[in-house]
Amino acid sequence: MFEVLRNETLAPQVHRMVVRAPRVAKARQPGQFVIVRLEEGAERIPLTIADADPVAGTITLIIQAVGLSTQRIVAVQAGGFIRDVAGPLGKATEIHNVGKVVCVGGGVGTAVLFPLAAAAARAGNEVTTIIGGRSAPYVILRDELAQFSKEVLVTTEDGSLGVKGFVTAVLEQILNDPARKPAEVFAVGPVGMMAAIVKLTRAANVKTVVSLNPIMVDGTGMCGGCRVTVGGKIQFACVDGPEFDGLAVDFKELSDRQATYKDHECKLTGK
Ligand code: NAD
Ligand code: FES
Repeated sequence: MFEVLRNETLAPQVHRMVVRAPRVAKARQPGQFVIVRLEEGAERIPLTIADADPVAGTITLIIQAVGLSTQRIVAVQAGGFIRDVAGPLGKATEIHNVGKVVCVGGGVGTAVLFPLAAAAARAGNEVTTIIGGRSAPYVILRDELAQFSKEVLVTTEDGSLGVKGFVTAVLEQILNDPARKPAEVFAVGPVGMMAAIVKLTRAANVKTVVSLNPIMVDGTGMCGGCRVTVGGKIQFACVDGPEFDGLAVDFKELSDRQATYKDHECKLTGK
């Protein structure tokens, strides 16, 4: 059993939970994730390890309560317990000092971006971060990212904070400015956002790393649930990823597979 030490609301339906998991906290590297099961027989939910404190023996998980299982997980208050936290799983982020890096986070994907951006900064890169949300309350981790980013540029779709529009508009400006053009882009967010970013970076000839979150079941490469096509080859996000060369990802297939259980989930949650 894994004790929940803190549970706070970061944005509407998005919670930051600090969980006691000493072994995971010690072994984890940026980019890796855990699979959480609230109780025996419950659905297995993959969650990126947003942060970890190996001394305190804790990990931080940022969870968007979109379905029945995630709604039940975020309902566990401090002092409560989670049955299983399996991990760390997946490959660690490959970080090199390439000079200028732009990190783009869309909505709750910013939680997944955070450890990647932090690792890029630790490796000596100059990190510019772009984060976006529907409106101001949906923009998360701005202050935390500012601690190591040269600048944090914010977009909202309704203009309630930062630049009005999508993150891609700001990225496009940076890619078109020779003084700011990065050697590499990291992008994490909705599939549509990552596909739109790759369209821009392909035209600008900039290496792009995306973190994918297809449907996962076992997290061990056995079930095939997280299958994605990258560079024409089948890959399993749980063991070969979750990060991939964005320019090679088949986003159309990923988007179709993501929608597989949408109707079923809507029936369960009544939304
Ligand atoms: P959202 O739909 O509110 O979008 C957040 C921001 O992303 C937007 O404000 C915009 O700036 C950008 N964006 C979205 N679609 C875009 C497009 N087509 N073109 C350009 N920019 C676009 O996001 P949300 O509701 O907070 O996040 C939910 C989504 O994020 C889910 O689809 C979920 O699967 C995904 N997600 C992905 C990861 C990952 O590891 N890739 C992790 C967590 C969540
Ligand atoms: Fe089963 Fe990846 S989750 S193969």
